[in-house]
Amino acid sequence: MAAERTSLFIFFGGTGDLAYRKLYPSMFNLYKKGTLREHFGVIGTSREKLTDEQFQQNVLKSLGTAKTDKEAVKFVSHFGYEAHDVTDKAHYQVMKKRADEMDKKFKLNGNRIFYLSLAPSFFGTVAGYLKSEGLTDTDGFDRVVIEKPFGRDFDSAQQLNEALSKSFDEKQIFRIDHYLGKEMIQNIEAVRFGNTLVESLWNNRYIDNIQVTLSEKLGVEERASYYDNSGALRDMVQNHIMQIVSLLAMEQPVSFTDVDIRAEKVKALRSLRVYNVAEASTNFVRGQYGPGDNQRAYRDEDNVPHDSNNDTFVAGKLLFDNYRWSGTPFYIRTGKMLADKFTRVDVVFKKPLIDIFSFPQNHNAPLEANVLTMYIEPHAGFSLRLNAKTNGQGFQTKPINLDYFVDAKDSKATPEPYERLIHDVMKGDGTNFSSWQEVSYAWRFVDQIRKVWDLQKPEFPNYTPGSMGPAAADELITRDHRQWVYRLNK
Ligand code: NDP
Ligand code: BG6
Repeated sequence: MAAERTSLFIFFGGTGDLAYRKLYPSMFNLYKKGTLREHFGVIGTSREKLTDEQFQQNVLKSLGTAKTDKEAVKFVSHFGYEAHDVTDKAHYQVMKKRADEMDKKFKLNGNRIFYLSLAPSFFGTVAGYLKSEGLTDTDGFDRVVIEKPFGRDFDSAQQLNEALSKSFDEKQIFRIDHYLGKEMIQNIEAVRFGNTLVESLWNNRYIDNIQVTLSEKLGVEERASYYDNSGALRDMVQNHIMQIVSLLAMEQPVSFTDVDIRAEKVKALRSLRVYNVAEASTNFVRGQYGPGDNQRAYRDEDNVPHDSNNDTFVAGKLLFDNYRWSGTPFYIRTGKMLADKFTRVDVVFKKPLIDIFSFPQNHNAPLEANVLTMYIEPHAGFSLRLNAKTNGQGFQTKPINLDYFVDAKDSKATPEPYERLIHDVMKGDGTNFSSWQEVSYAWRFVDQIRKVWDLQKPEFPNYTPGSMGPAAADELITRDHRQWVYRLNK
């Protein structure tokens, strides 16, 4: 059984979609595994008027278990509820009293985790009142968990950070990027730094290019009003893609600790070339889906303006100006309403300098590049493409794949990202959270692209649902005499 962790959780936005769909089920998984046992308490809060019992019933329902499931019933008995408007200063006194009672009842040693599952505009207000009204005055730890988005550009992110920093120091702030809680994203470090074979080749001498694809089959669904003010660049590139890229590009950390890993990620992001206007126009492509079979165009989705120029697709080329990566581009792409739902990283190695098998009498096809593919989701695994001899007489070569996929049993046992991340917050381990410096360098890079796009009117819509984005995304890479490893109709 896992070691027990002790804390009070206060979920602001405790009746929201994220809380019911992800956070409480993840907490329940931690309970079943023993990380949460007797010494934990939860206060849910929002403006909705609910009694403790009503809230407990809602949480129980969100767990997807039978109403009579004894373990689930015991779990929700640790939950309480306080109706509260986060802008109402006086109410923090009521919350403090309730928190102190919970602390006493479940023997929580004053440990507190404030989870802000709220619109970002409230983050600064809540953080300020938590401190000024004494909720953080305990003998235990105080940590604050912040949901995305962390700002909408560098300036707003900086303001937000300054507001948070008045109440919490960087070590107490846990900025969620749920991709960092994914099993295979964490595997990037294991594969890179656990294998001489891989790490010794992990540089511009041997790697031709790296491709990161986060493809989504669904459209904006019911989140259109948020998404239309964000777009794929802010929603996926600034956070998830930049985090993945920094793990791929960073140097080996001095030790496997949050401080050393973050330091290397920041160094990598610092060497990412921030584009000028011409570079941003050439190296980034945006898209928006039009209509498809039984599918409305983005501009016809509910709550989307008919003349919206919001990006539902982004592809780009990233260049690191450092000794390891100079000359080796990282190509990235992400979008809604694409061919399939998957995330993968393709590392394309350089071909042998001399292809000794490709002499005229041999009629052999030229050697293909070795490719290491990390399948992040939905089927976690790796594949390494090598060239080998075909069976039989003569000497022909063909590409073969060495594959490893996580089996169904292990896959089922893999913790959900939020389960892993909540556990890390209880441990006080910031490895899989975004530090302020990482966030700020990512915004500086993305802001330049955004600024250039804001000056130009795009020709939207420019891709069909079920495709892999606009033709310009292919041109971005074929122009460099390369191809996406994952492409339709190969
Ligand atoms: P919802 O709109 O579903 O929930 C918002 C919550 O905030 C509700 O509980 C709402 O309750 C509460 N709330 C709103 N205004 C106030 C107020 N003035 N005082 C107190 N409580 C208030 O949002 P989500 O759960 O979807 O998202 C929450 C956060 O998580 C956001 O930052 C979002 O960007 C982020 N996020 C969400 C994801 C998701 O899948 N849902 C994915 C990634 C990030 P009430 O109105 O009753 O007060
Ligand atoms: C979220 C974005 O951060 O990630 C969503 O806001 C996106 O727009 C989601 O759909 C994708 O996450 P996952 O884990 O389903 O790949």
